[in-house]
Amino acid sequence: MSATAPIPASIDADRVASLTEHMRTVYRERTARSGEYFERASGVMPGGVPSQFQKNDPWPVYIERGTGAQVWDVDGNEYLDFHNGFGVMCVGHANPTIAAAVKARMDEGTHFAAPTEGSITVAEELRRRWGLPQWRFTNSGTESTMDAIHLARGFTGRELIVKIEGTYHGHHDAVMVSVKPPPALMGDRSRPTSIPYGLGYPANTPDLTRVVPFNDADALSSLLEELRGQVAGVILEPAMMNINIVPPVDGYLERVRELTRDHGAVLIFDEVKTGAAVAAGGATELFGVTPDVVCLAKAICGGLPGGAVGMTDELGALVASGQVRQQGTFNGNPLVMAAAEATLLEVLTDEGYAKLHKLNEDLMAGCDRIISEYKLPAHTVGMGSKGCVVFSSEPIREYRDYLTKIHHDLTNLAWLYHMNNGIFMTPGEDEEWTLSVLHTDADLKRYLEVFEMFARDVTSAA
Ligand SMILES: Cc1ncc(COP(=O)(O)O)c(C=O)c1O
Repeated sequence: MSATAPIPASIDADRVASLTEHMRTVYRERTARSGEYFERASGVMPGGVPSQFQKNDPWPVYIERGTGAQVWDVDGNEYLDFHNGFGVMCVGHANPTIAAAVKARMDEGTHFAAPTEGSITVAEELRRRWGLPQWRFTNSGTESTMDAIHLARGFTGRELIVKIEGTYHGHHDAVMVSVKPPPALMGDRSRPTSIPYGLGYPANTPDLTRVVPFNDADALSSLLEELRGQVAGVILEPAMMNINIVPPVDGYLERVRELTRDHGAVLIFDEVKTGAAVAAGGATELFGVTPDVVCLAKAICGGLPGGAVGMTDELGALVASGQVRQQGTFNGNPLVMAAAEATLLEVLTDEGYAKLHKLNEDLMAGCDRIISEYKLPAHTVGMGSKGCVVFSSEPIREYRDYLTKIHHDLTNLAWLYHMNNGIFMTPGEDEEWTLSVLHTDADLKRYLEVFEMFARDVTSAA
């Protein structure tokens, strides 16, 4: 199984290769100062970055500042930001409402490791949005999904976890399995092999985390049957968001809900990416299926590092009694709570969502027009504030489709076009754009101009 679809005959592969080479040179020249920062950073940080996801070839763009929908890098290049901090900044950069809330909190003390009213207010709002009664706070998506796994195991007294092939849920042991499994190792589709993502995990980690394809409830049903009485929980993103965007097919989430209930397994929705970004109540609201545990982070805290775990009353009782340990020095930190409160109550309001949804629909429609006019082998997928151009003529339903049906060379070239023309996008080929309430129609127009420039160049005769 090859790990990319070949460029279709309608597009000249040599042209794509030479444009890519050219665009790489332009990137290097435009971001020379970032290259110097990278040299310096590599002396003190492995790979020159604080987090592996910030790494990209030949070096990352080092950012100086941002305001609204704009960011500036250390070379002085100005970008419109469609990366938006991996989907965190739906509120926009330096949003004055968030800034005022955080500054006010700053003057009243930023950390006590004792509860403040902010945490109650935010938990109440999350309960209203997601319909789950009990909430605790974390500092990241990784912590949220780690706590969710502990809850599932603690509640059921079982050890096995089932996850979806090709999903990322953070970097703790239980979920660092079959995140991006190499084609040669992943085994049969109906019963994929569990493959650790990197080194550093106990040898039995893959035995404890089993894998099924997304959008295939029958595969999940047969695995749960085979492991009857052993599965503590099933964790999934209701819409996959780390291999572009892969929405659930009709009826899939409903069947996953039924199956987990029938098998006494805890259903965990990882809404770290979808939560508060695709609708007020995230994918839970959008698709109308409520899990036992929901994991949040990213967009809910308006740019400060925080997360949350929502749970049923039964699960909450285990946390309250301390049988399942959910804790952390910075959980519910007042500064983070001030940002979350302003984000959820003042910025990402009904009006805010209406704006995000309209902008997203317009951007997708603009991309669709260009795709059709230039006959690109691509389509758009999106929801809420998020969307992407998927360089495949066929729909992508699971990780193996992503491997075999997407023209990754085109995805990478589109990314270079965006970056070299002032559109800041997520590095690499797996992500999507995220809009903020501070994006404007003019920002979308510029995005579309650059996308059209790319479309014209790759499809025009040499
Ligand atoms: C779906 C999903 N879950 C969990 C995480 C982990 O979140 P964090 O990076 O905040 O630890 C991510 C990060 O990108 C994610 O995309």
